[in-house]
Amino acid sequence: MNILGIETSADETSVAVVRDGREVLSCSVASSMKIHVSTGGIVPENAARKQIEYIIPTLEDALTTAFPDEDIKNKKKLFSNIDAIAVTIGHGLIGSLLVGVETAKTLATIFDKPIIPVDHVKAHVYGAFLGETAPQFPAIALIVSGGHTGIVLMKDHHTFEWVGGTRDDAAGECFDKCARLLGLPYPGGPSIAKAAQAFMEKNKDFKFNLFPRPMIHDKTSDMSFSGLKTAVKQMVEKNKKEALYSIEQLAAEVQAAIVDTLITKTEIATLEKKPKSLIVCGGVSANIELRNAFQALQSIKLPFLDLHVPPFKYTTDNAAMVASYAFFNNNPQEPKEVYPNPELHF
Ligand code: KG4
Ligand code: ZN
Repeated sequence: MNILGIETSADETSVAVVRDGREVLSCSVASSMKIHVSTGGIVPENAARKQIEYIIPTLEDALTTAFPDEDIKNKKKLFSNIDAIAVTIGHGLIGSLLVGVETAKTLATIFDKPIIPVDHVKAHVYGAFLGETAPQFPAIALIVSGGHTGIVLMKDHHTFEWVGGTRDDAAGECFDKCARLLGLPYPGGPSIAKAAQAFMEKNKDFKFNLFPRPMIHDKTSDMSFSGLKTAVKQMVEKNKKEALYSIEQLAAEVQAAIVDTLITKTEIATLEKKPKSLIVCGGVSANIELRNAFQALQSIKLPFLDLHVPPFKYTTDNAAMVASYAFFNNNPQEPKEVYPNPELHF
């Protein structure tokens, strides 16, 4: 079964074709990141305007990559290869979501295809199904992105049972806000990682403990990141007067505090729920230190379970994970019943 996925929840415009949930025939992504770098973050109106411009070229690129022998002008024949259309209806920015949803509804109506609405936060888990091996159930999934940070227990494809998560900011949001405080460019995660790497290369085996890890001693899987952001703000002020630390060191400290928190809280959830697989997914799972820390956790403390992290290109928002989720949660709706819903809940 070939599913065409469409993802426009924030700044990316992505279209993919995925066969039977795991084989990616194509995944095209057009990003408006450069514009957001100049504004220091996403301005929703700017993102949606670019998505209107990008959606048709991205769709055509995904289709021609997936079916190189077909004539792109013969859309009817091209779409005979597609069995269903999956589209992100939430979480996300309303203007951005509308671009993807209206495109999906139009295609579904013209070519008479079922349409499968998708919550892209849940779909992040399916980035891990696009790796070499599929996770097994029950699985614990840490979904860690710019807008969400939560740990869920999945007994099967359809159950996302909340185990714990942030009580305030998401981990990605914390990366982004701390980067801004440190004067590093948007998006904050990659720029903090880069600055941190520069410090760590020169300071091997350094012990990072400058910033607090709020709620780390709490026995639940709940966590908090807003205190870290405040601590960074205060430290930046102090540093302006006293020049105690380099920006690279502060970046490494921020990264270490976020990684420690995510590791500790996921370990608690995993020991409690005893899953077969541990999945770490969402934009922040692109972070190398986080990936290394999870690998160490798995091999030293949790050797009884297998760890699944999406291939890098399927960590941040992309349509392949949306199409994969739709294959395993095939719940088609009438086009007229599909609407964007920016604030879906688990
Ligand atoms: O999942 P995603 O693409 O969008 C949302 O659903 O929010 O995640 C974007 C988030 C941003 O906060 C970005 O700073 C973070 O993922 N991110 C990273 C890295 N790459 C992206 N955070 C830490 N290290 C990275 N390498
Ligand atoms: Zn996302």
